[in-house]
Amino acid sequence: MKTETIAIHAGNHVDEATRAVIQPIIMSTTFERGEDGGFPAGYIYSRSSNPNRHALEHVLAKLEGGVEAACFSSGNAAGMSVFQSLEPGTHIIAPDDMYHGLRNQLKTLFAGILTFDFIDVNDTGVLQQHIKPETGLIWIETPSNPLLKITDIKKVVAIAKAKGIKVLCDNTFATPMCQRPLELGADMVMHSATKYFGGHSDLMGGVLITAKNSDWWAKIRTIQEMGGAIPSPFDCYMLVRSIKTLPYRMRGHVQNALMLTEYLSLHPKVESVLYPGLPSHPLHEVAKAQMIAFGGMFSFCVKGGEAEAKRVVNAVKLFTQATSLGGVESLIEHRASVEGPDTKTPCCNSCTIRCYSDGTSR
Ligand SMILES: Cc1ncc(COP(=O)(O)O)c(C=O)c1O
Repeated sequence: MKTETIAIHAGNHVDEATRAVIQPIIMSTTFERGEDGGFPAGYIYSRSSNPNRHALEHVLAKLEGGVEAACFSSGNAAGMSVFQSLEPGTHIIAPDDMYHGLRNQLKTLFAGILTFDFIDVNDTGVLQQHIKPETGLIWIETPSNPLLKITDIKKVVAIAKAKGIKVLCDNTFATPMCQRPLELGADMVMHSATKYFGGHSDLMGGVLITAKNSDWWAKIRTIQEMGGAIPSPFDCYMLVRSIKTLPYRMRGHVQNALMLTEYLSLHPKVESVLYPGLPSHPLHEVAKAQMIAFGGMFSFCVKGGEAEAKRVVNAVKLFTQATSLGGVESLIEHRASVEGPDTKTPCCNSCTIRCYSDGTSR
């Protein structure tokens, strides 16, 4: 079945009770038991499962080519469930430019429970050097937010599998329209559904999709049910609705990103453009091999430093200066300022490693 068909049909069914063509929103928190005390429709209580969440999980699992999906109230809640599922003392290897919200979550909430190294995961030597007997998870994010770094998924999977380490890929930037990490060997995929799945900047959500049923997956399901960081039936309904147009929206995003990055690459006031679809991207060939399309997100450095970058952000028309991505409207921001002092994002073209709000780079 074509992806477009899956996106439209896998989350939807005609409602048996009313024959409504679109699945109704089931707000009920609880479901009637049968005479024998059982649950005839398979639903007990909405924290455990709900028809709208079930429909959403079904379409997301199908789109990523996984066996099951578990939906959460945000991308960070999905990520947190993964960290909570690991035995205390487990070592995690994560990218040095991991989405800053999740990096901060690890550093703030899991310090003393898990151990972690933030490294250049795509550098085979560096990766192998950091693997320890207690390494349980390699987290990858490709393309990464906001440096658009590419990680060779198959290469990392091969190294991890040889040591019995799990690999999870944050696929938020790509979406399954542009990249399917499970087909490349990853054990699990994570998304902020707030972004392209939602597509209209009006809801929060997160999802994990597993390649296979396992004890690890069962633990994540338990955390979802017992922890209760679940999306509301309304948000699930909205997500199922938005996902129907995801393949078509992504085509537009990819086409626009290609046009804009080609234009900016030739602009005399632009220092560099970071987009895996450009032949100038250092891992363009890897991106070409593992991605179906290059995604709709890109970054660029302007000449003239931080002040000039901030002027551009404020001068553009139509684009709104705001955090986030994946909505049909266009957003722009000076990312280093948003991420704060320990960011890896350059604040200007003379500062390539770290920058600080006082304007210095170290
Ligand atoms: C790559 C990536 N992963 C995870 C998240 C976290 O998602 P949420 O904001 O839905 O918690 C974000 C949010 O920007 C993101 O960009």
